[in-house]
Amino acid sequence: MSKVDGNSDKVLIIGATGCIGEFIAESSLENGKTTYLLVRPGSSASPSKDAILKKFTSKGAIIIEGEATDKDLVEKKIREYQIDVVISAIAGHALLEQLSLVEAIKAAGNVKRFLPSEFGHDVDKSNPEEPAQSFYNIKRKVRRATEDAGIPYTYICCNSIAGWPYFDNIHPCNVCPPLEQFQIYGDGNQEAYFVAGVDIGKFTIKACFDPRTINKHVHFRPACNKFSLNKMAALWESKIGRTLPRVTITEQDLLTMAKEYSFPSCVVAALTHDVFIQGCQVNFFIDGVKDLEIGSLYPDSSYKTLDECFNEYAEDLRIKESH
Ligand SMILES: NC(=O)c1ccc[n+]([C@@H]2O[C@H](COP(=O)([O-])OP(=O)(O)OC[C@H]3O[C@@H](n4cnc5c(N)ncnc54)[C@H](OP(=O)(O)O)[C@@H]3O)[C@@H](O)[C@H]2O)c1
Repeated sequence: MSKVDGNSDKVLIIGATGCIGEFIAESSLENGKTTYLLVRPGSSASPSKDAILKKFTSKGAIIIEGEATDKDLVEKKIREYQIDVVISAIAGHALLEQLSLVEAIKAAGNVKRFLPSEFGHDVDKSNPEEPAQSFYNIKRKVRRATEDAGIPYTYICCNSIAGWPYFDNIHPCNVCPPLEQFQIYGDGNQEAYFVAGVDIGKFTIKACFDPRTINKHVHFRPACNKFSLNKMAALWESKIGRTLPRVTITEQDLLTMAKEYSFPSCVVAALTHDVFIQGCQVNFFIDGVKDLEIGSLYPDSSYKTLDECFNEYAEDLRIKESH
């Protein structure tokens, strides 16, 4: 439980009502951090977001109403609450709004670490097709602004969130793997890393207070969760006890979708191409200097396996089918 005793670490999270931010806020509270959540006015009007916020306040989170773009408010709150770590998990068109956050953090002067909204690939190493390239340019711009401002940072490169990677679905962890047919990108043999949302939260909170990760890129590469789509399809078939047909989505299909689909599906199609055709998660070396692997930082911590995640989807399915 979070405690406001003046001594515990103080974390400000922006985006706790979102997919990734919810996992991070959960872990922050579980680990006894004093947890502040910057929440946009009106968030409670959405029943699902209201439920998330009530869950967090019951665990001790402190809500600050406001926008990430309100530099004066964010600067004031960071100073007033003596925030140690700011974690942003905002998304989409709002990513550029983090430039205001950078200004607020710099002006306040007391933040020991900033984690901008990354939580995917290392955008300085990947070279995806458009429109993902433009999306990465925004993340790169926030990185450069943070570095230029002299703010200590950690970039979390957690690779794919565990779940079946539907090319048109932005939150695969919320959706059951296929029950009719698998869409296999390319030959289905390109491997990638799949990390459970709870582990993205857990290791983000560990890393953001770890002196070894100051100004580093932290990569999540759990060997137990390195899967190709073919291997992942076979795993899911073993859970549901039947085989499903495979439909191939070619490289050209993905490139066409990246050109023709509307936002955000076009970005996801281009990222899918980068992961499953170009192999962007596995085609570079982690030097242990600027780039660190989370397993080498926390060798005694375990990861939730994809096998366990798929067991949960299968169990949910059985419960649904029995009703
Ligand atoms: N590795 C993966 O597989 C994976 C998967 C998904 C996302 N990601 C990455 O994770 C990051 C977060 O994405 P997400 O999908 O979790 O986002 P999301 O579900 O769309 O949530 C975004 C959050 O940001 C908040 N927000 C947006 N603008 C704001 C502002 N001006 N002030 C305060 N709060 C604001 C939203 O608040 P409201 O509730 O008010 O809208 C919401 O809580 C992104 O960088 C994304 O690229 C990675």
